[in-house]
Formats: sequence, structure tokens, C-alpha cells
Amino acid sequence: MCGIVGYIGFRNAYPVIINGLKRLEYRGYDSAGLAIINDNYHIYKYKGKVKDLEEKTKNLNLTGTIGIGHTRWATHGEPSDINAHPHISMNKKFIIIHNGIIENYARLKKRLEDRGYNFISQTDTEVLANLIEYIYLKGRVTPEIALRLALTKVCGAYGILVVCTDEKETLFAARKGSPLVIGVGEGEYFIASDATPIVEYTNRVIFLNDDEVAIVKKNEFSLKTIMNVPVTPVIQEIDIEIGDIEKGGFDHFMLKEIFEQPRAIEDTFRGRLSIKDKSITLGGLYNVMDKLINAKRIIIVGCGTSWHAGLVGEYLLEDLAKIPTEVEYASEFRYRNPIINEDDIVIAISQSGETADTIAAIRLAKEKGATVIGICNVVGSTVARETHAGVFTHAGPEIGVASTKAFTAQITILTLMALLLGYKRGFLPKEKYEYYINEMFEIPKKIEKILNQHEKIKELAQVFNNINNSLYLGRGYLFPVALEGALKLKEISYIHAEGYPAAEMKHGPIALIDESMPVVVLASNKDITYEKIISNIQEVKARKGMVISIITEGDEKISKISDYCIEIPEAPDILTALLSVVPLQLLSYYIAVNRGYNVDQPRNLAKSVTVE
Ligand code: AGP
Ligand code: GLU
Repeated sequence: MCGIVGYIGFRNAYPVIINGLKRLEYRGYDSAGLAIINDNYHIYKYKGKVKDLEEKTKNLNLTGTIGIGHTRWATHGEPSDINAHPHISMNKKFIIIHNGIIENYARLKKRLEDRGYNFISQTDTEVLANLIEYIYLKGRVTPEIALRLALTKVCGAYGILVVCTDEKETLFAARKGSPLVIGVGEGEYFIASDATPIVEYTNRVIFLNDDEVAIVKKNEFSLKTIMNVPVTPVIQEIDIEIGDIEKGGFDHFMLKEIFEQPRAIEDTFRGRLSIKDKSITLGGLYNVMDKLINAKRIIIVGCGTSWHAGLVGEYLLEDLAKIPTEVEYASEFRYRNPIINEDDIVIAISQSGETADTIAAIRLAKEKGATVIGICNVVGSTVARETHAGVFTHAGPEIGVASTKAFTAQITILTLMALLLGYKRGFLPKEKYEYYINEMFEIPKKIEKILNQHEKIKELAQVFNNINNSLYLGRGYLFPVALEGALKLKEISYIHAEGYPAAEMKHGPIALIDESMPVVVLASNKDITYEKIISNIQEVKARKGMVISIITEGDEKISKISDYCIEIPEAPDILTALLSVVPLQLLSYYIAVNRGYNVDQPRNLAKSVTVE
């Protein structure tokens, strides 16, 4: 979950590491630390943010051309100076930073303690540092061999950078489960959890694979497996611009990303949806198109917001393409011994492409012979590499921890897929297919219109100033949006919120309703249950609940009975999720800002959940 950055080359490493950590801070942010290596080594690490680390170190005149840095999201041991990374082994031979979890750390720790090792932190990472050192000193082997041997003894996930204080000119990197990218410069290398700290220096990168170790020197680089089999590195060119990962005048990344949605959706359908030819092309699915057309069943897996997008996908695929579709939390799917057949299609949805549960679900589905398709936002990520086929969302880097533009981009892809399959399978007549293509094309402009109401939504957010609970209701395509709206509110404003299918309210949640309970109702005049949702609103009003409705432009029936309304432009029901979620994102954002919270880095969360 944490962010890792490393540098080896000719520059002063300190600014490279600090700037890199700032870019990675969205991944984890309870503590931060760095080590700068020259003739000696210097380690600084503190509980708190990267800016605290910077404050405490900026006047120390740290110089050295090798450095490593870490921003932590604690898994073992509370956030504290001592538990922060880098960790150094007991005899000061190995300095390490780590992203992930060493699952057998307790057993390894006990064995090391029996052999005289003392531990000063509660982390699993310190165990790995001491294990490498123990093998190094006891076995009298090279640092590289000690590292590789140690890695054969650990279970769990890691992305690590290691420096041996006896061989200070080498930086070792290794991965299993947690991502690592190596940026290749001229006489210098950058290593990080993702490409964001690297792109300002080079766009030539190598994505490390599981069980690989990189041995990096200033002018030399080699790659091998932990079993010592040489690997030929594949250098790829990535096209992330530095502007893509900066705030561009917005107060927060989350707000910037909400406002980027018209562009993100357009980029996602560009080259795929042709308004001229009235066609949809999904090149990434070319190899599996026959299987998709003949699929008996689709299983969608994902976590959090991506799972919500999956629910919208289920409605779309069953509605338009008539393929039976199930949606599963990746974390449940992987452990419940699911029945998967060889003609099943599994679609894994993930913004980061690095979510541990989703990756495990992909591996399980592949093992059982299913065809696995990825919908993913990060090129080169594990999901992108491990699936049989896939479609990238072109939302651009999403930095705010609360997912926004990735969600609408995921739904865009699912809509294109469902339309194409519906057409190819003969369930969607040509005229309807073309009508939806036209309507899809209009979505970015319609979102623009919703974004223009941001002042009104900001004002409405005041209503939540003293609120502790709220309900989100929707039906049909808007039920997953209700879940997503509630998740956004919980994540960044820490208000307890529940999403429900509106009709379920009377089976329980209605007991909660009183005058202090805002109920956000999603209602589209195109939904077949429109009249029913009006009754649901009446039921809330009868119990003095406060109703905030997201309605279709000009819908007087609902506006008359609601306390507050936000209007969204008219669209076919299959596209209403793309529109309705936008006011909910803005609402959560302004509520959290009013409460003075850090919306981009909400407490206890991390952007990519690379641990179980
Ligand atoms: C979204 O706002 C969340 N922070 C979280 O639920 C997220 O969607 C989930 O962790 C899945 O991440 P992924 O899409 O990168 O796999
Ligand atoms: N397991 C390690 C720790 O708790 C690393 C966590 C992380 O990935 O940030 O310190």
C-alpha cells in the first residue's frame, strides 16, 4: 500500500527522493522516511506526512547519489518513528524499504530471536532486513545471494529496495505482488511503486515481474529471478505527461479529477466509438471476441468503487447483451471455491491494476480455465499484464484516494462492451445500437452541464454540516450509484452513509428515518420504476426525513416533494449512472471540505490496496 522510491546515478538523490515521495504519498501516508547513501548512510524517518519529513531534513544538507524513500501505510505496528521505513538490520548491514506484508514474519522473527537477533520495531519489514543479514553473515555470501536466498524463505507480498552498507554502490530491487517500476535514464536509474515519480526524468521504464530481482548500479543494470535465472529486461515507453499528475489550479486532486470526467470519458471512448461510422471497436478484446459473443456467463470481480462499476456492468450486460452476469467482491470470490467453467468469462475491474484481491481472483479464474479480461487504468500494471485480454480506461492518473473519474471511465468501457455484444449477439437492433452510440457521444457535454452546477452543490453541502448519518437510495442502474455515493461520503467526510435499492428501504432502513436523516434519492424519469420511487420519497417525507433528489431536468413531480434537488440532463436509462454519480461526487467533496478534512488523503485509506 505504501509508496517506494529509489535513485542511483549522478544527481543529488535527496530532492529526487523527496519529490518522488510527494507524488506517491496518495498510496499511503502515515509515516515517511528516507536513506541517503554516500561514503556513509543517513536514515531519517518520522511518523507523519512527507512534508514533515522534508521540514525535518531539508536543512541537513544531505548529499549522496544513492537514495531510497518510503511513505507508509502501516500493516504491522502502529504508525510511529520507529516503525517507519527505512529499516536497518541489527548489525547495520542492510537498509530496506518495503511495500507489502511478510506473512510468515512471526515464525521467521522467532527463529532469528533464537539466534540472538533483537528487534526494535513491530514491523514485518525489520524481520526481512534481519533475515537477509543473518544469511549474509552466517553464509558468508554476497549481498545479492543473501537477498535472493532470504526471498525464497518469505511468504507474502513485497516490493523492496535494499542497500547493503558493505556494497554501497548497488541498489537491489525485488518484487512479489507489490508493484515496482524502474525508470531508465542515461547513467541513472529511478525505481518506484509506479511511474509518477519517474516521468519527469524519463519515459523509458521496465516493469518488474513477480519473483524478479534487479541489481542496479549507476551505469549497469541486470535482472534475474530469485532463483538466479537471468531475465532480459524489456524497456517500454510510457506517455504520462507531468501535467497529468499535478493539481492544475484545483484545490485538490479529487476536485480536479471530478472535473476531468468529460475529458476522461472522451479519451476512453476515443478511437473506439465512432460517431461517423456508428460503430464500436474494442481492439483489446479482438482475440477473445468470439468467446465473448458465445459466453454463457460473465463473472465480474473487483473491489470498492470498481465493484460498483461492475454492478452497473451486470445491469448493462444482461439488459443489452442478454448474457447472464454475476458480480463478486474479489476478496470473497478468491476464497469461496467458486464454480468456474472453461467457457466462463471473468472481467476484472481495477483502477490501479494492483489490488491484491483482484489479482488473486484473476489468478484463480485463470487456473480454472476461464478467459480473463481486464478493465484497468494503469498501463503496465499487474492486472493489465496478467489478463488474457483487456481494455484500458484512459482516465489518466487518478491521485485522489477516492475514485471518481476511474469509475465513470470503467462504466464507459462496460457500456461500450455491452452495446457491442448486444449488437453482435443480435439482441440490439441496428437503430437502437446507433441511437445509443449517439447518446453515449453526448455524455461528456452533459457531465459538463452538471459540473457547471458546482456552486449550487457546494451550497447544498452545508445541509450536512451537523449530520452523522445518511441514506442513498436508487433503483435499477441507479442502485449501484447509490452505493457509490454512500461510499464517497464515508470515505472522505467520515459520515456514516448507506446505499440501498430504494424498495429495500421499507424492509429495515426506514426505521432510521427522522428529521436528522438526509436521504439522497436518485431518480431518473426514464426508469421503469419512476412512479415507485416517487412513493419511496413520500414514505421518507411521511417520517419527516429530509429528501435530496437527483432528478432529470424539468422533473416537477419530484422537485415538488423534495427538500432539495439537483438536475441532470435527460439521457437513456442505460447511461444515467454516468451522469447521476457526478453530483454525488461533488456533494461528498464539498461536505468533506466544509468539515476541514484532507479529501485527497482520507484517514486509514490508501490508493492501491496491495495487501489483503
Ligand atoms: C474508491 O474510492 C476506493 N478508494 C476503493 O474502494 C477502490 O475503488 C478499491 O480499493 C479498488 O481499487 P482498484 O480499482 O484500484 O482495484
Ligand atoms: N508491512 C510493512 C509495514 O507495516 C509495509 C507496509 C506498507 O506497504 O506500507 O511497515
